[in-house]
Amino acid sequence: MCGIVGYVGPRDCSDVLVSALTKLEYRGYDSAGIAVFENGKIEVAKTKGRLSDLKEKMEREGKPQGHAGIGHTRWATHGEPSDVNSHPHSGRRVTIVHNGIIENYKQLKQFLLENERDEFLSDTDTEVVAQLLDFYYDGNPIRCIRKVLHELRGSFALGIVFADRPETVYAVRCESPLIVGQGQGEVFIASDVPAIIKYTKDYYLLEQGEIAVLKNGAVQFCTLHGRMLEKELKTADFDEDSAEKGGYPHFMIKEIHEQPTAVKTTITPRIEGGMPNLSECGITPEVLEGFNNIFIVACGTAMHAGMVGKYVIEKLARVSVTVDIASEFRYRDPLLTPDDLVIIISQSGETADSKAVLNLVKGTGAKTLAIVNVKGSSIAREADMVIYTHAGPEIAVASTKAYMVQLSVMYLLAFEMAYAKGRIDDEECKRLTLELVRIPEVIQHTIDRIENVCRYVSTKLITADSLLYIGRGLDYALSMEGSLKLKEISYIHSESYAAGELKHGTISLITDGMPVIAVATQNSLFEKTLSNIKEVKARGAMAIVICDQKADIGFDCANYIIRIPQISEMLMPMVATIPMQLLAYYTSVNKGNDVDKPRNLAKSVTVE
Ligand code: M6R
Repeated sequence: MCGIVGYVGPRDCSDVLVSALTKLEYRGYDSAGIAVFENGKIEVAKTKGRLSDLKEKMEREGKPQGHAGIGHTRWATHGEPSDVNSHPHSGRRVTIVHNGIIENYKQLKQFLLENERDEFLSDTDTEVVAQLLDFYYDGNPIRCIRKVLHELRGSFALGIVFADRPETVYAVRCESPLIVGQGQGEVFIASDVPAIIKYTKDYYLLEQGEIAVLKNGAVQFCTLHGRMLEKELKTADFDEDSAEKGGYPHFMIKEIHEQPTAVKTTITPRIEGGMPNLSECGITPEVLEGFNNIFIVACGTAMHAGMVGKYVIEKLARVSVTVDIASEFRYRDPLLTPDDLVIIISQSGETADSKAVLNLVKGTGAKTLAIVNVKGSSIAREADMVIYTHAGPEIAVASTKAYMVQLSVMYLLAFEMAYAKGRIDDEECKRLTLELVRIPEVIQHTIDRIENVCRYVSTKLITADSLLYIGRGLDYALSMEGSLKLKEISYIHSESYAAGELKHGTISLITDGMPVIAVATQNSLFEKTLSNIKEVKARGAMAIVICDQKADIGFDCANYIIRIPQISEMLMPMVATIPMQLLAYYTSVNKGNDVDKPRNLAKSVTVE
């Protein structure tokens, strides 16, 4: 999704803006631009393409020279990626960058046209906002911004400069996240903290409807109603190194390798006396005991973590769990009661559909629990309870470590709920918790053992047009994530299928050499899955099997076997995830794809 940055301070503003935008590249974008005050005039440089294209353009045509300005990476929504649709957009005296969507831009454009404002150059909703600001501008920027905010509908954040207010940047947040960084004599705005972490770890989080004015290296805040605000300065709990590749060729492989630490950091503070303890998040056995039904709602990878959660919670706690895709749940008029718990899982905490579910649940009496990675994000702040995962910043679009820590929280929750419901005694609860505590070591061992195997097997996938992931039970839940990971970065069509369902239609797709990746880590279901592997192999499939070290399978049944350590069946997903991530990663690398920034995708999906 789009990224916004801004700067006021002594450094070369263009350089700061481009450097900060580089750190937002992971969000996905198709054009970039900046606007900088140069000798009291706003100079704009923008282009379709990557930041490298913008840099080249500025080398050719001259880089705006100054110390205050705004910048943007655009992920096209209204109008194709093009130079003219790129941000910043300007009215006569106002230039803006914008993240999000203005839902009523057509009506506003009509209003402007009827009032003799017909200077539209682009197809964007953003330009309408720039023109509207211009229309209402009477020399008082705050009054003008407040007036316009009352007219805009949608979720968005804006960075604004007024031609007659040199060296000053205005910023406003309406749903879409925006932070203000405070350095020594310099101030920044950004859509996300990693953008400015190189310059400062101290930042303010803009809340809904708040306006920031950045001037003379300092910032002032006011509300939508014009009331001045004192805000709490926060400090990021990560540094530049953790937001950088640290010697790895891509963020994705770095993040795969960070998983043992991420899991450890997530679970350790939630274990006391060998038992799970989520009370710091407001979750006690008494609270959990009261819920009769659980709904887990999320998107993409986070939803897949919920699928694993369903199996584990139902198995251990015997509580019914429904997993739903947020974009479906929000429109299907779900039946919720005050005895229900709705768990929303989100790495970013800003996903538009997941956020909408949270709002929908409010008012039904059901309680909401957010499992979120980004501190202070909208979903985290608006839910009744929150469990933060401590994965650190996840930069690669393809989620790996965030999924892994979401799984670890699902297990903690399942153990605590099973204990609260009297389904397991404290001895069993401690045994399960101890096994979870040992998982980071097993993950590390697995990565060390199989990375090269996966790299090799991935060379067998690169020519495939299409493949299947199959599994049963937890392996099926897991294969959904394996399939998504592979398709999103390798661009090979992939579907995950319940292994037992194949012969009801899908098996007709099998042709000679078609890869079928079977996840067969569940001992109790192994024989059944093995039969399905034999069925596809007999029809010419190239069978790649992910199973544990002791699984009784040979090369008569599989072309390639990736063996992982054997732990208890229920916890296998946390280990079996590794080969799936590595297969996806190396297939993408071998195909020469842009691993961290796959085409058409954005890290944080803040539009519906
Ligand atoms: O930030 P969220 O966890 O809410 O994001 C949800 C999905 O967009 C996300 O998991 C997406 O599917 C992954 N990038 C896939 O790897």
